[in-house]
Amino acid sequence: MTFNIKKICCIGAGYVGGPTMAVIADRCPNLIINVVDLNLERINAWNNSDLSKLPVYEPGLDEVIKRCRNRNLYFSNEIEKHISSADMIFISVNTPTKRKGVGAGQASDIKWVEKSARQVAKYANGTTIVVEKSTLPVKTAETIKAILETSNQNQTINGENKEFSVLSNPEFLAEGTAIKDLENPDRVLIGGDSQEAIKALESIYLNWINSEKIIKTNLWSSELSKLTANAFLAQRISSINSISAICEETGANIKEVAGAIGMDTRIGNKFLSAGPGFGGSCFKKDILNLVYLCNHFNLPEVAKYWQNVVEINEWQNHRISKVIVNKLFGTISEKKIAILGFSFKANTNDTRESPAIGICRDLIEEGSSLAIYDPRVEEKQIKLCLESMEEISNLNNLGNWHLSRSVIDAVTGADAIVITTDWTEFKSLKWEEISKKMRAPSWLFDTRNLVDIEEVKKHGINFWGVGCGS
Ligand code: UDX
Ligand code: ADP
Repeated sequence: MTFNIKKICCIGAGYVGGPTMAVIADRCPNLIINVVDLNLERINAWNNSDLSKLPVYEPGLDEVIKRCRNRNLYFSNEIEKHISSADMIFISVNTPTKRKGVGAGQASDIKWVEKSARQVAKYANGTTIVVEKSTLPVKTAETIKAILETSNQNQTINGENKEFSVLSNPEFLAEGTAIKDLENPDRVLIGGDSQEAIKALESIYLNWINSEKIIKTNLWSSELSKLTANAFLAQRISSINSISAICEETGANIKEVAGAIGMDTRIGNKFLSAGPGFGGSCFKKDILNLVYLCNHFNLPEVAKYWQNVVEINEWQNHRISKVIVNKLFGTISEKKIAILGFSFKANTNDTRESPAIGICRDLIEEGSSLAIYDPRVEEKQIKLCLESMEEISNLNNLGNWHLSRSVIDAVTGADAIVITTDWTEFKSLKWEEISKKMRAPSWLFDTRNLVDIEEVKKHGINFWGVGCGS
């Protein structure tokens, strides 16, 4: 089977599908790329002529979209039409953790992947390469293959046989640096059985990536590598966060400890920033997937090992809320607390699994009134994240929250500030001005170790930093 790829369809126009296809379109002007999604509001946002209104905020994305949109990159909700004309189809749909049924709370819900595979089986024509892009549980390719094979006996309306090849090509981009990561990745991983299909996908990446960086494996190694990479990264964060608690008790400083161990080239200095716990759509989900797999294959010790990485993450999150309450004389009822940052990390508007959510919920439950400021997250998104909290608050007379349009607005009259996201603008806040707006005795809780501690203390604000204490 030889493949001549001219048209690509990507199912799913989210945080992965949108930026990934934009960079492929940018680097491969000879390909036509249609990104399709069920969500018309999202598609309209991708087509918005005002580039500040794109549904995904990523530094540099607007420039790439400006160059390619309506040149060789199109966003549409005509899913069937674009599947049927594609030579290669990327599946880039959401795979959240299951909430109900078998594997609830651990296994990924692949119903959207299955639905996409069924659509591909029905509408694709001729020979088509199907590429798994979403983070998926190991062996999902088997499910996709099984669904596609049912249509293998079916012929297209022109009497041609449908043929499919399934590849796994996991995405390693991190939000906030997606464009940089896509343009200059550490590696590209392609897993599959068909050498011709692998070659066809490789030839696309070779337009801008060196061949040494393209790794080819079997399907299962590729799927498992993605889960393992995320599990290792998350494990490093839980490790450093666990040490941050020891630092606070002993007087050691987590930044000094991280600096000292990071100089060991075997350990390396990346991913050693203590914080309020990891967020984002991948880490927790992927580890839970791994745990589910281990239990399925009767490896309970391995399952427990990885489960602990998630448990430490949750513990760290709630530990910080408790510190805040304790420092504020054990009660925050009717106190105003400014929350700086709601996205799960800087340079993204994504709030999935954001550590700010847990902290805000805890503080609302304790009766505090929160003023939330984030430079990129919209009010409706915060509302969705704290929705159930609002209901509980109304019923039980707990605390509340409102959106602030600026840092100064948020801190005015506040008893405390909590920095929850590592946005650059929080590194250089004007503490003299802020101290005058707050109610004394005022506190700053820096969960990201961003600020200059002496500068804060100089202006009479009490300070607590993760892994540094007060
Ligand atoms: C991650 C992986 O990095 C990426 O390869 C994969 O494709 C998707 O999952 P992402 O979740 O976008 O990417 O962001 P990442 O930079 O990994 O950060 C995840 C979380 O860990 C964030 O909440 C971040 O603030 C936190 N983090 C990261 C720390 O708390 N400390 C660190 O040192 C690094
Ligand atoms: P990710 O971070 O993995 O990109 P997102 O939730 O941001 O996840 O995006 C996934 C997108 O996939 C959503 O916009 C959703 O509407 C879309 N989607 C899910 N199922 C289908 C489907 N069967 N056909 C088209 N789009 C789909």
